Amino acid sequence: MELIRIPRIMKDTSIGHLLHGRSIGFVPTMGALHEGHLSLVRRSKGENDITVVSIFINPLQFGPKEDFNEYPRDTEGDMVKLKGADADILFMPDVSLIYPDKFLTYVEVQNLSEKLCGVIRPGHFSGVTTIVAKLLNIVKPTRAYFGQKDFQQAIIIKKMVKDLDMGLEVVVCPTIREHDGLAMSSRNSYLNGEERKAASVINRCLNQTTELIKSGIINHDQIKGFMEKKLSEEPLVTEIQYASVYDPDTLEELEIIDKEALLAVAVRVGKTRLIDNILITPVRHLRPLTG
Ligand code: PAF
Repeated sequence: MELIRIPRIMKDTSIGHLLHGRSIGFVPTMGALHEGHLSLVRRSKGENDITVVSIFINPLQFGPKEDFNEYPRDTEGDMVKLKGADADILFMPDVSLIYPDKFLTYVEVQNLSEKLCGVIRPGHFSGVTTIVAKLLNIVKPTRAYFGQKDFQQAIIIKKMVKDLDMGLEVVVCPTIREHDGLAMSSRNSYLNGEERKAASVINRCLNQTTELIKSGIINHDQIKGFMEKKLSEEPLVTEIQYASVYDPDTLEELEIIDKEALLAVAVRVGKTRLIDNILITPVRHLRPLTG
């Protein structure tokens, strides 16, 4: 595995591969790699000639009171995992080379960025789209890979790529889960033993809500009420930031589930903020239950 730290060298290396007709798959990460990231690397390996992984903890996407300083860092462990997954290039730039003094340009996908996590983390998605746009310009991938766990991030990036004619394919891959259903996340390492057990309530809530919808309950208020009740039954859930059913294209809340729907949740378990979601495919011939 080649380690590149300088954006200009990364760019020249990519251009060289593209000139030789090789496709480039790209997996952007903030490190503290887990099976979720490695599944993206494997997918990229299967679909491209060269796979580039970046590790960059992007200060721009953390709010002033968020966990930038505490965010888990494990460069050595990450490199072992990436070699094991046979990644070709690790791009790990220094912050000063990505955001030099007098950096003034931000990329913003309006509307989608202000919903769900955007309400709780203002400015977060502008930080994400700015760094992802920069990384895409440097790495010049044929395809870029993102996990469905960050569904909102994935659709915002898709929109940016389309709107700005960036000319690559954005591939959204399934969420990888622990044995009890908890979505893998670098932030799971913040949870103590009790909190870790309690966190499985999120996936249970999503699965039980799916069953409820399949049974014929397709009315927004009933579904939202059910989700909030399930989550609040767990004493270590200290805050429900959102839990509802959304249109996966617009992220507007759905009144009636008569088309593909996104069930999405953001909660705090103890002090740790966790998100998860599930896509439900349309169930035909369902009518709202009355009475
Ligand atoms: O999902 C992440 O890890 C980050 O938001 C990303 C896409 C690497 C941008 O910093």
